[in-house]
Amino acid sequence: MENKKIPVRKGNWVLGIALDLIRDPLGFLTSVTKEFSGIVTYRFASRYVVFLSDPKLIKHVMQTNNKNYRKGLQYEPLKLVLGNGLLTSDGGFWLRQRRIITPVFHKKYIVSFADQMVLSTQNLIVDWKKEEGKVFDIYPHMMQLTLDIVGKTMLSTNVKDKASAVGPALGVLMGFAINRVRAIVKIPLWLPRSANVRFKKKKKIIDDIVVDIIKKRRTTPSDHLDLLDMLMKAKDEETGEQMTDKQLKDEVMTIFIAGHETTASALTFAWLLLSQHPEKQKKFNEELDRVLGGKTPKMEHVPQLEYTLQIINEAMRLYPPAWIVARRGINEDSIGGYKTEKNANILICPYSVHRDPKLWQNAEEFIPERFEKEKMKNIDKFAFFPFGGGPRMCVGNNFALMEMQLVLAVIGQKYLLEEDKTHVVKLDPLITLRPNNGVKVRLVKRT
Ligand code: HEM
Repeated sequence: MENKKIPVRKGNWVLGIALDLIRDPLGFLTSVTKEFSGIVTYRFASRYVVFLSDPKLIKHVMQTNNKNYRKGLQYEPLKLVLGNGLLTSDGGFWLRQRRIITPVFHKKYIVSFADQMVLSTQNLIVDWKKEEGKVFDIYPHMMQLTLDIVGKTMLSTNVKDKASAVGPALGVLMGFAINRVRAIVKIPLWLPRSANVRFKKKKKIIDDIVVDIIKKRRTTPSDHLDLLDMLMKAKDEETGEQMTDKQLKDEVMTIFIAGHETTASALTFAWLLLSQHPEKQKKFNEELDRVLGGKTPKMEHVPQLEYTLQIINEAMRLYPPAWIVARRGINEDSIGGYKTEKNANILICPYSVHRDPKLWQNAEEFIPERFEKEKMKNIDKFAFFPFGGGPRMCVGNNFALMEMQLVLAVIGQKYLLEEDKTHVVKLDPLITLRPNNGVKVRLVKRT
């Protein structure tokens, strides 16, 4: 086994590179990606990190030798809200859950949600009449929309019942978890600080609502099949085991959170880029007119909305919602001949890989055409990986892609979005990548 030494990015003798990373994480990781050839180590305060940007080395960790890696420390605050769901669990427990849940997200089942996705979008834009001709922030609208879609497809919520409180309340809980990610010193949750007490109280209310919904469903099934029904029926093919109420609760929370903010960000950045590139928006509108001919989008149109999909892929290349992926090595390893220690902290940044000029021509430019079907074959799976890769790849990727194509189609049929040149979008890279100050665009009715 080769035993090469990992190149070191030096930093301040006390804090290492901590200040650079805290000040501007995207800028710092992008410059390290350009400066080093695929692997580098640096010290973040007292912790050493191995940063990977070469697709071959990323594949080694996420796919080839994935059994040697568990989720990184960055996921810990999420556990407070999501419990032991698919996103945050590891090892045998994760594998069993994944085996049960993967079939539920198979294309043949999720197509049944297409009409709901369209309906939610149509309902959203009813209110946009008063915004026509004006500049408005599209980000909160995309958040509201994707939350509505995940709520309706997961729990068949109807605004009058308790289930409709789950999504918004989870947002508040995530705010608490995010503050813990930001905090340099993490105050233990058992301390009776008012924020901790408030968090626990709210968490209990949400847990009780979800458990209550699950219990009721055990005796009275809903009138149409939603994701919760599917999860309740799902079985481990090998053992025939099903999920307990507690596991179901954690997975419901996980899918709510994993499934709406990421999609809202991707949609928002797609609109931003379209507004900045009128010639691409024109091509997008032409596709909608050609494929839909003025009709309401349906599942059968989705495969034909090829340029719409290219726009989504290019938006996720430039602004990957899951901008950072972290792993912790269980045992020592050799990554492309570089030796790593037991418990090594591995960091991978899709944002910087997606913009690496070594991998992409005109890397900073918005060119949806680079994702044309024929060209896709030449793109390395770990040079473009907005949904991750290997066995822990996003379980909801088909759901998300279908949702984004339908949402863009319903809105693009009716509206043009024009850039507001006075508004400079700032990025907020935290758990997901989101616009810090919103994305302002002018809403123009298509004639
Ligand atoms: C544009 C939208 C989305 C993006 C960019 C995205 C991205 C990702 C990424 C990168 C991972 C892997 C993280 C890692 O390896 O550490 C992941 C995992 C996951 N995603 Fe998504 N996701 C999206 C939408 C969704 C949706 C719509 C759902 C569900 C409805 C979902 C559910 C999950 C779950 C449950 C996991 C954990 C899978 C596992 O570890 O087995 N995601 N997502």
